Amino acid sequence: MLKYNCLERSGVMHLPDFKVARSSEKIDYKKKDYKLDSKYLGKYKGKKCYLKTYGCQMNEHDSENIKGILELLGFSFTENIEEADLVLLNTCSIRENAHNKAFGLLGKAKHIKESKRDLMIGLCGCMAQEEIVVNTIMKKYPFVNFVIGTHNFYQLPEILENSEEKQQIEVYSREGDLIEDLPVDRTSKYKAYVNIIYGCDKFCTYCIVPYTRGRQRSREKEDILKEIDNLIKEGYKEVTLLGQNVNAYGKDLYDDYSLAELLEDVAKTNIPRIRFMTSHPWDFTDDMIEVIAKYPNIMPSVHLPVQSGSDRILKLMGRRYTKDKYLTLFHKMKEMIPNVAISTDIIVGFPGESEEDFEETLKLVRECKYDNAYTFIYSPRVGTPASRLPDNITKEEKEQRLYKLNEIVNTYFRENNEKLVGKKVPVLVEGISDKKNEYFGYSDTNKLINFIGEDVKLGSIVLVEIIEAKTWSLDGKVSK
Ligand code: 5AD
Ligand code: SF4
Repeated sequence: MLKYNCLERSGVMHLPDFKVARSSEKIDYKKKDYKLDSKYLGKYKGKKCYLKTYGCQMNEHDSENIKGILELLGFSFTENIEEADLVLLNTCSIRENAHNKAFGLLGKAKHIKESKRDLMIGLCGCMAQEEIVVNTIMKKYPFVNFVIGTHNFYQLPEILENSEEKQQIEVYSREGDLIEDLPVDRTSKYKAYVNIIYGCDKFCTYCIVPYTRGRQRSREKEDILKEIDNLIKEGYKEVTLLGQNVNAYGKDLYDDYSLAELLEDVAKTNIPRIRFMTSHPWDFTDDMIEVIAKYPNIMPSVHLPVQSGSDRILKLMGRRYTKDKYLTLFHKMKEMIPNVAISTDIIVGFPGESEEDFEETLKLVRECKYDNAYTFIYSPRVGTPASRLPDNITKEEKEQRLYKLNEIVNTYFRENNEKLVGKKVPVLVEGISDKKNEYFGYSDTNKLINFIGEDVKLGSIVLVEIIEAKTWSLDGKVSK
């Protein structure tokens, strides 16, 4: 329970509540265009912000919007926290270590504030959506000026202003409005993230995302295509269509317009490269596979999290597929999409995972020989159903399983890379390394390629002949 004086001290507008977030009531939101009140334009001119982003591509893209807003307010950005006037953390709650890192940085910011009293400190992103985090901040972190949830970071100007007086807590438990035309300062000049769907309705039992990001809301196709047309005009070469579960795109908006149709419409814009992530195997249709196979500008690269190879654990995770169903989809993709690279996510040490369950995962990995895999030890998240399951596996056992799994997945990364030696692959050139005539970029199958060339133009797509394979990258030279 919150102590009365915490609420008194804070300008609390809305507090997070997981029960409300979970409720299956029909969601009700409006679409609005972003508009900044002119009184905020340049209000903080000359001030510097240290913005730290944790977590997934969704958060990275939110930070691009946050930067866009703060720039309109007059902020510039610094990598040096000591010279900042505003320290802003865009946080992630998917695993315990992301939490710990953010609290560690808050501690550092507190220390700086002791000798710099007008330093502003703010927390936004997924951790801001957690009741337990917000209660802790209100009770024990009075030096934090504001907490803003994932659904309302566009309200930053007002909240920043109000927090000069009192700690501000503004977190919606249910979805807020869907805001179009947010200002944006993109990290890359060639590759852009484009949100297509927010939130997730899958409620996998271990996952906190449906509570922190809310229920599934698709953007209208016209808004997505307009954003992509503008990106093409600005010279962008690649878009990544983003969502926690992109395959569910359109289900909340249209009767018969899905990710397959959207991918096809984006492909017809002729932007050179299209990617999309993340895909849930449950919603992946044959139509989607056909469209990916048909258009050369849809990259042959699919991120298809499996999480576990044991049917018993998949059921406890609430994943809605069996190992066989996953493998059928996996092999269909391999067969129908020429040259496709498939990557995955795997969790080890889910509550009750036996040695046999873990062996099932290894068996599946040996069959799929993934091009890339993100592997994690299960991390209990407060409020999720899995956190209430009995868990009798020791930390050491979990670590050993992760180690064993990593050894196996790494051998396949390297084996798959070795198959490319002597071949020519298209690479979008993203940067120059410190050494003369050395560049880097990503292949169509999303592999990091370091290569040698002369006068190569950044942002162009060049053919690179692969000379050497490593585990996580490849070396090559521009093909004549
Ligand atoms: N513990 C460990 N890993 C998790 N993931 C999601 N929730 C948890 C958790 N509680 C992993 C899943 C997901 C990826 C983004 O993070 O593998 O696909
Ligand atoms: Fe979390 Fe992904 Fe499952 Fe959604 S589909 S609940 S984001 S793991």
